[in-house]
Amino acid sequence: MTDFAAWSRASQARAENVLAALLPDPAIAPEKLHAAMRYASLGGGKRVRPMLAYAAAEAVGGETLENNVAGSKPTAIDRAAAAVELIHVYSLTHDDLPCMDDDDLRRGKPTCHVAYDEATALLVGDALQSLAFEVIAHPDAASTSDTQVEMLRLLARAAGSRGMAGGQAVDLAATGRALDLAELEFMHIHKTGALIQAAVLLGALAHGTLDSDARTHLERYARCIGLAFQVMDDVLDAETDTATLGKTAGKDAAQGKATYLTLMSVKEARAYAHELLDDALAAIQPFGERGLRLAEIARFIVERGY
Ligand code: IPE
Ligand code: IPE
Ligand code: MG
Ligand code: MG
Ligand code: MG
Repeated sequence: MTDFAAWSRASQARAENVLAALLPDPAIAPEKLHAAMRYASLGGGKRVRPMLAYAAAEAVGGETLENNVAGSKPTAIDRAAAAVELIHVYSLTHDDLPCMDDDDLRRGKPTCHVAYDEATALLVGDALQSLAFEVIAHPDAASTSDTQVEMLRLLARAAGSRGMAGGQAVDLAATGRALDLAELEFMHIHKTGALIQAAVLLGALAHGTLDSDARTHLERYARCIGLAFQVMDDVLDAETDTATLGKTAGKDAAQGKATYLTLMSVKEARAYAHELLDDALAAIQPFGERGLRLAEIARFIVERGY
């Protein structure tokens, strides 16, 4: 079995190829919008959400990434992985706009509205979101139509006002204002945790139906790592340099964002992330060896340097 470094490189490469195949060709009109969609989506990012989809499928009995050799057609799991990443890239593109976090660097290159223009970046987000749903509404995206409707419903909810977009609204409303721990947790679970959870559940559902025990274990795992992911994003914003992050460091404090570090020290925040990691690892114990990749991703989320 390959080590995590090799496995994550393979899943990143696979996600990149699938996205490149699913995104419209830039030669198709409107050329500028299609080029900007590809600019925002390709050639960067850690691809944690696609990795989670592949790992979750493996945990519930799907083929390992190594054995599931990509042909010319994206598989159901490829589609689940790509759909969540497309929603994520849309969220980043809008998050960076001047009316939100006003960032000019993302994934080591100028943000979409800097490289193109604001109106184009707005449309990139809109179009990536629609594409995500088109990708999992495809006949190859699930084994039964009941499962497919369930996947569509899960992704819609995770992206919307009771998921990512809702969390972003809380983030904006909280800027310059202190939140208590419960409010912060609500914000993080929504703005970041919801899509992380969608990645895990869609990956598992793309393999087949999910029994209620497996679903409960995956939901608990995803809730813990989703929260830990944003706790570590807050820590890295404060502790790491711009070149390593590929996005502007120190922005949260500069913009008066409510983060875990407005309530606790870096040391305490890291300890909290480790508690969440332990809980996530306990949640996937029942999958045994099949949960190995999920465990490795959870560790990566908490121990990453970028
Ligand atoms: C950054 O996400 C935004 C958050 C939701 C915290 P990632 O850290 O996954 O960004 P990429 O995809 O690697 O660029
Ligand atoms: C963004 O959180 C979460 C999203 C839904 C995009 P941040 O604003 O902290 O993400 P970064 O630090 O800009 O990547
Ligand atoms: Mg933000
Ligand atoms: Mg931001
Ligand atoms: Mg951040």
